[in-house]
Amino acid sequence: MQLKENCSGDCREILAGAMQRLHEIKKLQAAGLICHDGDFVPSVHYPPITQYAPITEDELFAGYTLPEDELLDIYVHFPFCKQHCTFCHYPVKLGEQTEEKDRYLTALEREMDTYMARLGIGRIKARSILIGGGTPTSLAPEQLERFLRFFCERVDLRQCSQFNYDVDPGTLVGSVGLERLRIMMEYGANRLTIGVQSLDDSVLKAMNRPHDARTAIEAIENSRRFGYQLNIEFIFGHTGETLENWIAVMEKAVTLPVDEIQLYRLKVLPYGDRHGSVVRLRRKDPLSIPPFEDTMMMKQVAIEILRRHGFQENLRRVYSKKKEHYSHYAYNQCCMLYDQVGFGITAFSSLRDRFGLNTQHFDEYYAWIEKGSLPLNRGIVRDREAQVRWATVLPLKNSELRKARFEEVTGIPFDTVFRAKVARLKEFGLIVENQNIVRLTELGAFVADEVVEQFNANEFMPFSSDAYAPGPLHPYADNTPRDALGSTGPPATSGAIPADDVADDPRRCGRP
Ligand SMILES: C[S@@+](CC[C@H](N)C(=O)[O-])C[C@H]1O[C@@H](n2cnc3c(N)ncnc32)[C@H](O)[C@@H]1O
Ligand code: SF4
Repeated sequence: MQLKENCSGDCREILAGAMQRLHEIKKLQAAGLICHDGDFVPSVHYPPITQYAPITEDELFAGYTLPEDELLDIYVHFPFCKQHCTFCHYPVKLGEQTEEKDRYLTALEREMDTYMARLGIGRIKARSILIGGGTPTSLAPEQLERFLRFFCERVDLRQCSQFNYDVDPGTLVGSVGLERLRIMMEYGANRLTIGVQSLDDSVLKAMNRPHDARTAIEAIENSRRFGYQLNIEFIFGHTGETLENWIAVMEKAVTLPVDEIQLYRLKVLPYGDRHGSVVRLRRKDPLSIPPFEDTMMMKQVAIEILRRHGFQENLRRVYSKKKEHYSHYAYNQCCMLYDQVGFGITAFSSLRDRFGLNTQHFDEYYAWIEKGSLPLNRGIVRDREAQVRWATVLPLKNSELRKARFEEVTGIPFDTVFRAKVARLKEFGLIVENQNIVRLTELGAFVADEVVEQFNANEFMPFSSDAYAPGPLHPYADNTPRDALGSTGPPATSGAIPADDVADDPRRCGRP
């Protein structure tokens, strides 16, 4: 670790705190919680989306009924961007693509109608909305308006508590950017998530971002003037980032007129069919990516700078001054486990005990839509064990596991499941539990992905068994279906996957 030459007393104190945190992380690694080289795969859904098998529309919806209040969170995906960022694993079409965007809009409109017919409804009652990508604001203003018109005709917004757009800063500046901001607001959007990623131009260049820091700040100021609630996103651990320039970025970030700051650790291991160029970069030159130790310190440094400026972690990785400034879409889906529908390429639907994923390929997407079918190609209807693991992993990672809600969606009391794991995680100060909830401690929240991975079935662990130290927190320990399901579980021999069977798994802890 290099200390800034001009590092002030505050800066030295913050770095000392980060060293202390690193020391704690190393102890957890030695106990088996984190794999040997510190690599990670974020726990976004359970089981991991990349591992779903093909499923037909009829199989996915068999026996599905809408929630009683018929409210659904809605996601729409736009797979278009100006250029490809190095870290991005999403399949997107680059450049203007005016005709392709028109074609895509026509398909999206049809997909919504097909989906509503499948659910037997004439409009979708929205609980919250997220329009993401890609860059949904890469549409020309007329196309943006076309989309919002047909979308809002099909969506009942009366109970929608938040309408969020995920945007790239470069699309919110200049006269066209201002026009987009006006149109989105006219149709009810009230919150923006802006992908700032860094405020250091050399890092933005290394990321191949289509904007510089000045443009990001201008986009924030423009959006603020329109009255949007604002969340900005940063990546730490990318090529070009050092502790020193990261501290400068965070110190600048806390002065910006935004409500929330969201931190992502660089994900190098791809989680979809496409591999971002960062995968090749790391393979070619592993030292070009900051080492695990620096990445952990970057995270702690950011948390401390944010804390000193009044930003608290109110939803995992998201820091705000006021608790109410959280993403309703993320909260409803990952903490409350409410039903959500998704439209567009790579979009998914999470429907209580099932999950469907749309195709990642444009041609396939258009072909399904033209046939009048949903473009779903992979998914799962979870069995009881997977449902128990899902209802543990998502809320525990993102905010807290509420035992009453857990029992509603699984039919099993939480106090009867995962007893050995829960006891051990408490012993290591990673979780706390009372009659009503289970929650990560501050230390547990720092390594949230690894803590909740403890509840994955062995076949869905991100790394093979030998990638972890054989300590008490080894994730494969005490992890049979009976451990997971408690007294209602099958005998330990049925379905438990011995560690040896996954030793050759290509998803090893190490370079992909
Ligand atoms: C779904 S992406 C789309 C955001 C938008 N297209 C943009 O780049 O401005 C949402 C956020 O995920 C984060 N992200 C995407 N790929 C990542 C990766 N490989 N590692 C870490 N964070 C990533 C970025 O912070 C990004 O802003
Ligand atoms: S990170 Fe965002 S802007 Fe960059 S290529 Fe991916 S989706 Fe597009």
